[in-house]
Formats: sequence, C-alpha cells, structure tokens
Amino acid sequence: MKYDIKDLKLSQEGKKRIEWAERDMPVLNLIKERFIKEKPLKGKRISACLHVTAETANLVRTMEEGGAEVLLCASNPLSTQDDVAASLAKDYNINVFAIHGEDRNTYYSHLKTAIDFKPNVTMDDGADLLHLLHTEYKDAAQNILGSMEETTTGVIRLKALEKEGKLNVPIIAVNDAKTKNMFDNRYGTGQSTLDGIIRATDILIAGKNIVVAGYGWCGRGFAMRARGMGAKVIVTEIDQIKALEAAMDGFNVMPMREAAKLGDLFCTLTGDIHVLRKEHFQLMKDGAMVCNSGHFDVEIDVKGLKKMSKSVKKNVRNNVDEYMLKAPLIKGVGGLKSIYVLGEGRLINLAAAEGHPASVMDMSFSTQVLATEYVVKNYKKLENKVYDVSEDIENWIAKLKLKSMGIDIDKLTPEQKKYLESWELGT
Ligand SMILES: NC(=O)c1ccc[n+]([C@@H]2O[C@H](COP(=O)([O-])OP(=O)(O)OC[C@H]3O[C@@H](n4cnc5c(N)ncnc54)[C@H](O)[C@@H]3O)[C@@H](O)[C@H]2O)c1
Repeated sequence: MKYDIKDLKLSQEGKKRIEWAERDMPVLNLIKERFIKEKPLKGKRISACLHVTAETANLVRTMEEGGAEVLLCASNPLSTQDDVAASLAKDYNINVFAIHGEDRNTYYSHLKTAIDFKPNVTMDDGADLLHLLHTEYKDAAQNILGSMEETTTGVIRLKALEKEGKLNVPIIAVNDAKTKNMFDNRYGTGQSTLDGIIRATDILIAGKNIVVAGYGWCGRGFAMRARGMGAKVIVTEIDQIKALEAAMDGFNVMPMREAAKLGDLFCTLTGDIHVLRKEHFQLMKDGAMVCNSGHFDVEIDVKGLKKMSKSVKKNVRNNVDEYMLKAPLIKGVGGLKSIYVLGEGRLINLAAAEGHPASVMDMSFSTQVLATEYVVKNYKKLENKVYDVSEDIENWIAKLKLKSMGIDIDKLTPEQKKYLESWELGT
C-alpha cells in the first residue's frame, strides 16, 4: 500500500488547492525547474514528517522532480488536509500516510511506516521521526545521510541530544535560518493563528483583551497582528530581554497570574509545558477562551482543566470544547463558569485553519529543499551535529524572494565596501 489517507475521492479539491498554493511559491518553483533538469536527489529516499498542507505538497513534488522517492506522513494528528493527502496519492503518485484527526496509534504507525521506507534523508517538524531513530529504530539511523528540522521545538530537542553526545545523524536546523524563522514563525504564525482563532470562534478581535504567552518569533508576530485588529494585547514572558522588548513595543507585560484575570482570549506560543494551568484557570473570567500555537499540545494543561471541571461539552462549535467549572464566590455570588478550549490545545492555525500562507512557506520550503540538496552533496563531510543552513543559501533565497516581489535594493559602492571593511578612518 502506498498510502493511508481518509478518502481518495477528495483529490479534486486537493489538487486545486495545491495548484493555488503553487502560484504563490515562486522561489520553490525556480528550484523545481532546476531540479527537473539536474535531478540532484536522484536515487535518494526521503521520509518527510511535516504538516500535510497544500504548501507541503509543493515541497514534496519538488523533491520528486529532483529525482527522490518521497514518503510523507503528518507531524501532528490534527494538521493534515485530507484533500491534499488524497491528491498527492492520486495525482502525484506520492506515498502519503496521514489522516486528519488520526488517533495516537495511527499517528505512530504512520511514523513507523516512514522509517520502514528506509529513507536516506528525513525531514521533521518537531523531531518525531528523529525521536524514533534514537529509541525504537536506532539501527535505521545508519542509512541516514542527514536530517532536516523545521521548527523551534524540534531544534531544541535535537540540540539536547547533541549536548548529551547521543545524536546519531547530522541535522540541519532549517528552523534557525533567517529565511525561515524571521518570516514563517513571525508573519506566518502571526496571521494564521489569528485566522485559526477566527475560523474556530467567529469572535470580533477588536476590543478584546488578548493574552499572548511568549514573545519569541511566533509570539511577536501574533501580538503584532492581534494589535493590528484592535485587540488590547498583554504579553507574558519568562525572559527579561524579551519582556523588555515587548514592553518597549508598547504591550502590557505582566505575569500570567495577573493576566489570567483580565484575558478574554489566551494564546500560548512558547514551546514550553503547562504555561496555562490550574492556578490560571481558577482566575479566568467566565467565557474565557484558550488556545495554543506552539508545536506540541502541552502548553495548556487540558487534562488538569478537565479534572477541575464539573462537566465538559465537546464540540459546542467545530474546534471548540466547553469546560464548565465552579466559579469562585464573588460578593457572595458563585456558580459555574465556562472556559472554552480551541482545537483541543493543538496548533490552532493548523487545527482550525490552513496553516501558513504559501508565500511565506515558499521561503521555508526553499530553505528545506536546498538544505536537502546540500546534505546529499556533502554528507561525507558532515558529523553527527546540529548545523546551521549556509549563509549562501539564505542570501540566494532572500534575493529571489525580493525579485519575485518586484523589489530592488541598493548595492555597495566600491568606496562604501572599502570603508565598511577598514578600521583606519575615525572621527
Ligand atoms: N503554529 C505554527 O505554525 C508554528 C510555526 C513555527 C513555530 N511554532 C512553534 O511555536 C513555538 C514557539 O516558537 P518560536 O520560534 O516563537 O520560539 P522562540 O524560542 O523564538 O520563542 C519562545 C518564547 O517563549 C518564551 N517562554 C518560554 N516559556 C515561557 C513561559 N512559561 N511563559 C511565557 N513565555 C515563555 C521564551 O522566553 C521565548 O521568548 C515552538 O513550539 C515552535 O516549534 C509553531
């Protein structure tokens, strides 16, 4: 079997969406044209564990055009777009193992299929394949020339393995490339997280108190966009510099135990565990909404919330669960209050919307595919370490992206070049 997907009949809609995304991925398309001629990935087997979206479909197609045989599985049980998976299987003859809403067992069986595929190169968004290659499937790591990691949380996990001296394959930290995190994490997550919240709830953002946990790349993007739509944004942080930055960017900064009382909507974007937990739920207003756009569904302690709730109503609206808990006595009046969890606490932009727009994934996936080509060409030189993407790749992508946007920039004059490289000239 070359696929395990929801329904092959969904392929027509998926194909349309893949082609729509392709229009907005000019840099990746240029790489694809070159790959068709040069076939730099010829004979290589690639297992990609990524969000199965229309943009990812175009990445996978590019790798196939480059001569690779590719298997795609999901990097999150709720992020698969079933129509895209169907079209990849039917129209593009790609091995796809991903079903939206798959349970934990199916999710892991699909990951294992990706390892049984005997890849030479892997791609992860959250390091789940690499986790298997360091636990149950250690032997399979021998065949891996190198592995790409797409997200902050994955890079953190892999650097932890490297620090312990246990990393068993070379890694390229695609997430850490400027052409990835400055754009995908900031503008992609900023826009698509709001998109997910709005599709899930249909609330008006203007005038709402929105609490943003984490002011890294994703948090900055989300805070900026929420403010742009008229929300009163509060930021919580654990890092002094980031907190200072948020304060000077004009946001209210405070600890979560204070923000918990004020927020109408909470969004976690930290990569950390239990950022919202019992002590915060207790303080929240009736009707507060909580969601997450960090990689794993650990940022909101949904199990803890369930334990303290009197009752839970699933799906009061698509992607919204209502948790009813005892409200504290205020001026002698107590009762039940509701807290709404969006997208089960999983990445809301992928659970309830379509993930990042194609234009920004153009940069992330061009970085992915060029990093893959680099691994295939240079694997003999690579050790079991976490490497950055080369600056040449970053600059090439930035140059072409600017060109595709019709933007030209200045060049250094010979005088300026000399001045910037010298130290003699002073005051
Ligand atoms: N939704 C998406 O599509 C998407 C896209 C890219 C990245 N991500 C994920 O989003 C998460 C954040 O990524 P990033 O690139 O912004 O990371 P980052 O490291 O740039 O930022 C994370 C921030 O959270 C802060 N933080 C950590 N623990 C905290 C806590 N308990 N309370 C408040 N703040 C806390 C850190 O100090 C840091 O400033 C990661 O899990 C990443 O994998 C999601």
